[in-house]
Parts: sequence; C-alpha cells; structure tokens
Amino acid sequence: MGETKQLWWKDAVMYQIYPKSFLDTNGDGIGDLEGIIEKLDYLQELGIKGIWLSPVYRSPQDDNGYDIADYQDIDPMFGTMEDMLRLIEEGKKRDIRIIMDLVLNHSSDEHRWFLEAKKSKDNPYHDYYVWRDGEEGVPPNDMTSCFGGSAWEWVPELKQYYFHQFSKKQPDLNWENEKVRQELYAMIRWWMDKGLGGFRLDVIDCIAKEPDKKITGNGPRLHEFIQEMSSQTFGKSEFLTVGETWGATPEIARKYSNPDGSEFSMVFQFEHIMLDQDGGEKWDLKELDLVELKKVLSKWQKELYQKGWNSLFWDNHDLPRAVSRFGNDNEYRVESAKMLATVLHGMQGTPYIYQGEELGMTNVSYELSEYRDIELLNMYQERMEKGYKEEEIMKSIYAKGRDNARTPMQWSDEKEAGFTTGTPWIKVNPNYKEINAKSQIHDENSIFSYYKKLVQMRKEYAILVEGSYELLMEEDPDIFTYVRRLFDEKLLVVANFHGVEREYDLPKEFEGATKILCNYQEEVAGKLKPYEARIYYIG
Ligand code: GLC
Ligand code: CA
Repeated sequence: MGETKQLWWKDAVMYQIYPKSFLDTNGDGIGDLEGIIEKLDYLQELGIKGIWLSPVYRSPQDDNGYDIADYQDIDPMFGTMEDMLRLIEEGKKRDIRIIMDLVLNHSSDEHRWFLEAKKSKDNPYHDYYVWRDGEEGVPPNDMTSCFGGSAWEWVPELKQYYFHQFSKKQPDLNWENEKVRQELYAMIRWWMDKGLGGFRLDVIDCIAKEPDKKITGNGPRLHEFIQEMSSQTFGKSEFLTVGETWGATPEIARKYSNPDGSEFSMVFQFEHIMLDQDGGEKWDLKELDLVELKKVLSKWQKELYQKGWNSLFWDNHDLPRAVSRFGNDNEYRVESAKMLATVLHGMQGTPYIYQGEELGMTNVSYELSEYRDIELLNMYQERMEKGYKEEEIMKSIYAKGRDNARTPMQWSDEKEAGFTTGTPWIKVNPNYKEINAKSQIHDENSIFSYYKKLVQMRKEYAILVEGSYELLMEEDPDIFTYVRRLFDEKLLVVANFHGVEREYDLPKEFEGATKILCNYQEEVAGKLKPYEARIYYIG
C-alpha cells in the first residue's frame, strides 16, 4: 500500500435499488423508502458498501422519477424527507452509503423552472431550457428523442419549440446558462450537507448539447462543465461519483475518472452492452459473440489501468436481467448466474449488483397490457405503425425491454413474492415461488451466498483491486479466462461461458495454485462443466 489512504469505493461493492420495485410497506403496490430501511440488514449481510438509489425526488413519474419536479423534495409515493434522512442515518450505522441518482440533463415539465419558463420569452427562467423559434409543424431540425418522435415540442403560446432528448415531459436544461449551472451546484451542495455518500449522474454526457449542430453526447463544453461542477461541489472529497456515459471511449473515460479527482470517481460505459444488437438500435437483436465481448471488456481493463477507474456491471434498471441475457435462465440458471458474477467481480473496478441479480432473477414475457415502461410502449406503437410484425416486436421486448429489470423484487414465496400486500404497480415475475431471497439467504450453495463470497473476496484480496489484467485464450469461443498480477501474487479467473462441456487444462504457471472459489461442488479433471467458473490464487 502506498502512503495515500485508499479510496473507500475501490474494494467496495455497490448495490442498485430501483425503489419502486424493491419493497412496499404500506400496501399501495409501490416500493418505498421505509421498505429500503427494512432491508438494510439484508444488504449488510450481502456485504455491500453503497446503495445507488434510482430517483426518489418529487416527480410526476412520466419516466419513473427520471423526470424531476423538485430536486429538494421526496415524492410522497416513496415517503418523506424525514424517511430519506433516516435512510442515510440507518445506512451509516451499517457502513452503507447512499448514492442518489442525479438527473441534470433535464427536469420534469412540471418543475417550477419550466412552468415559469413557459410563461413568456422574457421570464427569468425562460433561458433555463433550450428554445428555438419556429412554425407549428416545422421543427428546427429532424433530431429525434430517445423515446421516439421528434426531439422538439411546440408551445403555441410562445411560438417556440423546446428541446427534449427524452420524453416531452423531460425538457432539456440549458447548461450554457451560468445561472442554471449555479442552481444545480447549490442543490448538489445542499444534498452533500445531508450526509449523502455520492451521486450517480444520469446521462451526464448529454448535458453539453448543441442542437443546432445536432450534437447531443460529448459536446465541446462537456468536460469544462463537469470540471466546473466538480470543483464547486464534490471535488476531491470522499464522495463517490459515477457518470452514466453511453458515448464514452476509454480515452474519454480517462478524463471522467482521472485519478487527480478533477471529474468523477468512475463511469458506467456501455460498449459491452451494445454487442448483441444489430446496428444502433437495441431492439434489433443479434447473437452475442463471446470473442467480441472478451475483447471489449479487456480493452477497458487495460486502458483504464492506473489511469482511470472502471465500474463493473452486467445489468441495471434499463437493461435485461444478466442471467437471461448472458447466461442461461433455464437449466443452468444457478450455475450461469454464479459464472457471470465470477467473471465480473474478478476484474478491476467497482462492481455494481442490480437488485435481484444476487438471486438470479430473470426476464419476463408479458402481455403488452402488463408492461409499464414508456420507452417500450412508444417503441411498440412506432414499430406497429412502420409495419413490423407484432411477433417480432414482442420478441425484442422480451429480450431488451426495461421492464425485465423492473418487476418486483422477489423476497419470498408468499403472495406477490412478499413485495406488497396490495396490488403491485407492475406484475410480479411468475417464477417467484422458485426464485426468492428467503430460500437463498440461509442456503450456502445459493446464488446469494456465492455473491456474498465474492463481495468478501474483494476486501480480502488486494490483487483484485490493484492487480494488472491479462486476457488468455483470446480467440476461444467458449472460455473467458484472465490473469491478474500484483508483485509476486497471481490470480486466475476461468469461466466456461456456454452450456457445453469443454476440455481445459490450467496454465503451467498456475499448477499447484489454490482454488479459492468455484461454482460446482466437484470438478472433473481436464474439463470445465457447462458454465463452470473458478478462481485460483498464488500468494
Ligand atoms: C438514463 C436512465 C433512464 C432514463 C434516462 C432519462 O438513461 O438510466 O432510466 O430513462 O436516463 O433520464
Ligand atoms: Ca408503498
């Protein structure tokens, strides 16, 4: 260890909570802050050190809280400000920090600023948003929203359009306006004073947009804005900051996560998440090529080594369930969920577990009327109008729809999976009798217990935090294996990514090494069973 104190998030594992679907304590069918407080002991048992909380601010919920109407208030649906402060306190008692989700690219159209902005062109808040003059029916350009349709919304009273990269209830904030930036920084400081542990910064690479040049991601002033924000707020503190950056390359990510602390602690990059899509559209499905996946993940390991910091994740509230997407959610659900966890937690960076991932929760195939997500429902409409076959559309939804991740957390085999005593806002996955927390917590062979071991290992083995990374068997179509090295120590992760048995011999330099983790009880010499994963260590 060097002289500088290690940053707390380097050997820690984070856990993402989607509050609406976590635990409902008052029977209204919607998860709440009280529910999170109730489950802190469960999370402490798992060993995580921080909770990334998807938005709980006051919001009309057009995009499940990613449309914020008041940054300094809690939505009554989730509880009160008092509950929020209690969550922070109760978290502290268990050494768990709360990371809030900051949506700075846009607000809700019901935010006070936007209500003012809409009143007249000379209202002091008008310039808080992005407006262009125009004529009804002729938007300034052909830019489209991420949720479908034009990115421009006409306001007849003003004879102007406002810009929205997401739904029309999510008008983009104008970061060119210094006052907007100062308001946001003041709000960040206000939250910091409440004892928060950090922020996840929603679509942060889109804030420096220049719609006249059709620029959304990675705008020219992006890093200037981020550095300004950092220096006036979280700066070089203990705060964990993680940017959501769909457009990051390793080079850009080295800026975001520069160890000098000038921007963020780390970023979420999504290159490995876009490999099973055909072109730019996530809905156009393509089979995942393991060789490509290995290349991408290894590139990020190498290129940020000692120059930045990775976040490690397979899924989140916008993505399908990891085991359904990258593993096998049928016959080998347990084995493949553990295998995926092994591959991810063996790398350098800060791992994020998405609620239910630690149980091996799976995707769903619902009737259209049972879905709730605005993105998926808009896509369905749009593709139906374009003449796609309904069957094809549903196939895309089953594979990629965001609601896969948003079905209620499966706590037990009781009614509604123990999530609520009322009617859940979205249907519970019918497999909850088989897959639930209650049956796994005390089972030492469960996915939950396996995750617990991995979380613990990251604290015990410095090599997992600091070690270099080298990919082996690059072109192998089934096996994902890499070595970590730190001075005289060596650690090997080897995983069979597929459902076929494979011949396998340990590399020479690992002969005699200690096997410190495996997802099967017994091993067959010279072979890897379907989805088998192991970790070896030489100290
Ligand atoms: C991010 C969020 C997503 C949200 C979008 C707009 O991608 O993760 O859930 O819809 O930003 O705020
Ligand atoms: Ca509730």
